[in-house]
Amino acid sequence: MPLALVTGASSGVGRATAIALRARGWEVIAVARRESELVTLAETCGAKAVALNAADPEAVERLVAQLAGRCPDVIVNAAGAGRWHRLEDTSPAEARAMMDAPFFAAFLVARAFLPAMLKRGTGQIIHVNSPAAYQPWPHSALYAASRGALRSLHEALRQDLAGSGVLSSHITFGKVSSDYFLSNPGTEERLPRIARTFRTLSPEACAALILRLIDRPRAETMHPPLLAFYLRVWRIWPGLVRWLIRITSPRA
Ligand SMILES: NC(=O)c1ccc[n+]([C@@H]2O[C@H](COP(=O)([O-])OP(=O)(O)OC[C@H]3O[C@@H](n4cnc5c(N)ncnc54)[C@H](OP(=O)(O)O)[C@@H]3O)[C@@H](O)[C@H]2O)c1
Repeated sequence: MPLALVTGASSGVGRATAIALRARGWEVIAVARRESELVTLAETCGAKAVALNAADPEAVERLVAQLAGRCPDVIVNAAGAGRWHRLEDTSPAEARAMMDAPFFAAFLVARAFLPAMLKRGTGQIIHVNSPAAYQPWPHSALYAASRGALRSLHEALRQDLAGSGVLSSHITFGKVSSDYFLSNPGTEERLPRIARTFRTLSPEACAALILRLIDRPRAETMHPPLLAFYLRVWRIWPGLVRWLIRITSPRA
């Protein structure tokens, strides 16, 4: 039975992905900090719940020890949090927390299992990311910095893993109807209005797209299609997209 490790599995994209993988018959290790949510998930779908802070190096080492030499076939890095603020409104503690997840958590989990994946010659590490990884919007300084760092980590892995049999995949979603906006208050109000032009995805739809990425591995993908079109425009004319995002962003 293939083995997946899903971070951020107590909510949203990670939770839906854990459930979808279990429905496909995968063994799933579900990681997040809130134990009660993970226990409910384990009861719902049979995933193995491991409550930990994925940005804590010692906790990740304990997870590796718990797996006793087993290495996931697929890692889904979906842990992430962070409110949207301007830099001068972001405390150092909040900045560190935002870099912790998704960026540092993705680094630690990949670092923990990459040597075994490379030895085996197979594996896929999937990073769940936001459009802010490409073009930040106003009032998102550290949120965007963390997502940009995650995207750079993926790009660096692409270089290092070429020809190894292990793939780094980067999947970006537009707006997702998860609890993200409840858990990070004051965030939804700051979404640029341009986001209203593309479809909001459910966590289940995101999970289906992640499963498709496992079936048909690719290095980079973005959903929904209109967002992917904006990305193509951004690559050709970044100034235009930066301006459009700025003028459609609510004022503070
Ligand atoms: N919602 C959107 O519109 C949207 C769109 C594109 C991309 N994204 C990105 O996708 C990622 C997941 O978003 P989501 O919508 O699924 O959010 P969500 O419903 O709030 O889920 C976030 C998950 O991350 C976990 N988490 C946060 N910090 C963690 C840590 N240090 N260690 C382990 N788990 C941690 C949370 O669980 P615990 O609190 O239990 O640890 C939770 O399970 C985020 O990085 C987000 O920026 C979201």
